[in-house]
Amino acid sequence: MKTYEEAYAHATGDPEGFWETAARKVEWLTPPAAVKRAQPDGLATWFEGGELNTCHLAIDAQIEAGRGDQLALVYDSPATGCVQRWTFSELLEAVARLAGLLQAEGVESGDRVIIYLPMVPEAVFAMLACARIGAIHSVVFGGFAAKELATRIDDATPKVLLTATCGIEFDQVIPYLPLVNQACAMAKHKLNRRIILQRDQQIEPLNSDDLDWQEAVSRALPAQYLPLPADHPLYILYTSGTTGKPKGVVRDHGGHAVALLQSMADFYGVKPGDVFWAASDVGWVVGHSYIVYAPLMAGCTTILFEGKPVRTPDAGTFWRVIEAHGVNVFFTAPTAFRAIRKEDPAGALIKGYNLDCLRQVFVAGERTDPATYQWLTSLLNRPVIDHWWQTETGWPVAGVPQGYEGEMKIKPGAAGRILPGFEVLIVDEHNNVCDAGETGAVVLKLPLPPGCLPTVWQNHRRLVEAYLEEYPGYYHTGDGGYFDEDGYLYIMGRTDDVINVAGHRLSTGEMEAIVADHPAIAECAVIGIQDPDKGQVPIGLIVVKDNVSQTVTEIEGELVQSLRVDIGAFANFKRCVQVERLPKTRSGKILRKTLRQIADNLPVEIPATIDDPAILSEISDCMISAGVGAIAVQNRG
Ligand code: COA
Ligand code: AMP
Repeated sequence: MKTYEEAYAHATGDPEGFWETAARKVEWLTPPAAVKRAQPDGLATWFEGGELNTCHLAIDAQIEAGRGDQLALVYDSPATGCVQRWTFSELLEAVARLAGLLQAEGVESGDRVIIYLPMVPEAVFAMLACARIGAIHSVVFGGFAAKELATRIDDATPKVLLTATCGIEFDQVIPYLPLVNQACAMAKHKLNRRIILQRDQQIEPLNSDDLDWQEAVSRALPAQYLPLPADHPLYILYTSGTTGKPKGVVRDHGGHAVALLQSMADFYGVKPGDVFWAASDVGWVVGHSYIVYAPLMAGCTTILFEGKPVRTPDAGTFWRVIEAHGVNVFFTAPTAFRAIRKEDPAGALIKGYNLDCLRQVFVAGERTDPATYQWLTSLLNRPVIDHWWQTETGWPVAGVPQGYEGEMKIKPGAAGRILPGFEVLIVDEHNNVCDAGETGAVVLKLPLPPGCLPTVWQNHRRLVEAYLEEYPGYYHTGDGGYFDEDGYLYIMGRTDDVINVAGHRLSTGEMEAIVADHPAIAECAVIGIQDPDKGQVPIGLIVVKDNVSQTVTEIEGELVQSLRVDIGAFANFKRCVQVERLPKTRSGKILRKTLRQIADNLPVEIPATIDDPAILSEISDCMISAGVGAIAVQNRG
């Protein structure tokens, strides 16, 4: 066993040797001829000449290794009161049949399939079934509204859409088909087929062109896995950027498998047979990497949880699941623990459960505030490990690894050390490297390691423009932060127009476009402000046109509704503040960073290019009288 320092030195000193060793843990169908080939844009192609199949690694190879009777998947759904279990052999049966159905529907290797499903086992089957036949899946989070689904249909141009009749949010049944029908009507691209899962909570008459999932699968013949080139796309996952149009992050089979297996052993410290639970959603990268692919490829049992940290039925639900299924390693977002702490601050509910099986808790998706960290650590008396990464990287960049020799210190508030494979720097606006303690832009040295995005779907130029151009030689993460003297990275938040609401990544640029579309709005800015429960929530600063008869309350109500209909309720857009004008540079650019600093009561750096500095106190007064933002909250006492 190596120490962290040894592994890090190996990965930086001899990246090819490091990744060649890591790649040996993967069951290739044809071993790669080369480890890395540099690309002109600074990125690299990994494992050229290699052939493999992610579904084979996640299921068939596990059965071949003698794990056929081991539990692969446990579905625990307080939302429906159902618990179901699949061994690896049973999972193979379910996945191979669905793969056969997709083939029968004309889906071939390289074709796209959209998966718009709640947290049901069929979502896992669907992802693996696509992987099995080389189809590229694109999972769309069930909370997204019709327009977002339509945008993804048009960008991915899928042959088939897999969906269900409903999702369940707390005790509310959310019908999916009206949204899906609306999205299909809005999209220019037309699907060949929709396969629909009838859920007991919402049985719907289906169109004659649609297939009933259960019925169609029962008639399908199982499909064999296809050997695929290492760089064959496994999935497209859309993520919010600074513009209104989400980016289709592509993940390949080869680099992804190598990186995820590496992360399971060296970072999460798990071994085959462990029970791994990531309480996230299959619609997000955490769900892709650590609910579906990594645990199965590592021979672990994975838990699929259809519920919430609270009110399903209470704030003890996480502890119940950990005890019931013998969870060894648990991963969720800090916001989930904040929700539990709010309802059960003394942790009374935890006392009813035996959590001896639990070794560590991992948290990510947003910074873990020290208060939540302290509460959780004292409650659980186990390591609580923050770790930082993003959809684009696919696996953790920083954290406190659990798979190396010796114990590494956890520092509350820090994301951790840099994981072997990545090189992270903090740079200032002139591209100079910052000293320890100095805050700047967090960038990753090129080339990115295996598992990170090789491209943006059908638009490589967009990857170059969005991530590689600002800091030549580096990938720009969009986060700001600093290193301390011990090499621990602190992530202090986004420096762009991306916000994190209850662990969900959203673009304020996209929200702004919707607000600006309202007929009463002359100008607007949407910014994220701090929120004690959700981390951040968006607010709209609106300049209303002259001679508008509607009140601000009426306009706000319409905007809140528009955001729910166009993006989804999970965006949590609930407040607008009317202002007379917005702060701008002399060239007319809205100073969003300055607005965020005012709202969060941070020291305001007055930009040299500001048109009229007097406007800043006007804005601050408007926020205080509307009761939003940190100063307003402070003033309220
Ligand atoms: N489908 C449909 N609607 C959804 C949805 C989904 N998958 N997810 C959220 N929504 C809706 C909610 O029902 C709610 O609707 P409402 O305004 O009509 O009540 C709205 O979006 C806001 O949801 P949310 O911000 O999630 O707040 P909440 O009070 O419903 O739940 C938490 C709070 C903390 C329990 C919840 O946000 C949570 O579990 N967060 C963790 C997120 C996570 O795991 N992220 C992955 C990163 S690792
Ligand atoms: P996503 O792509 O949805 O996973 O969101 C990635 C973004 O979430 C990052 O760029 C960060 O802004 C934020 N994030 C994720 N994990 C952490 C963390 N541990 N600490 C701070 N921010 C985080």
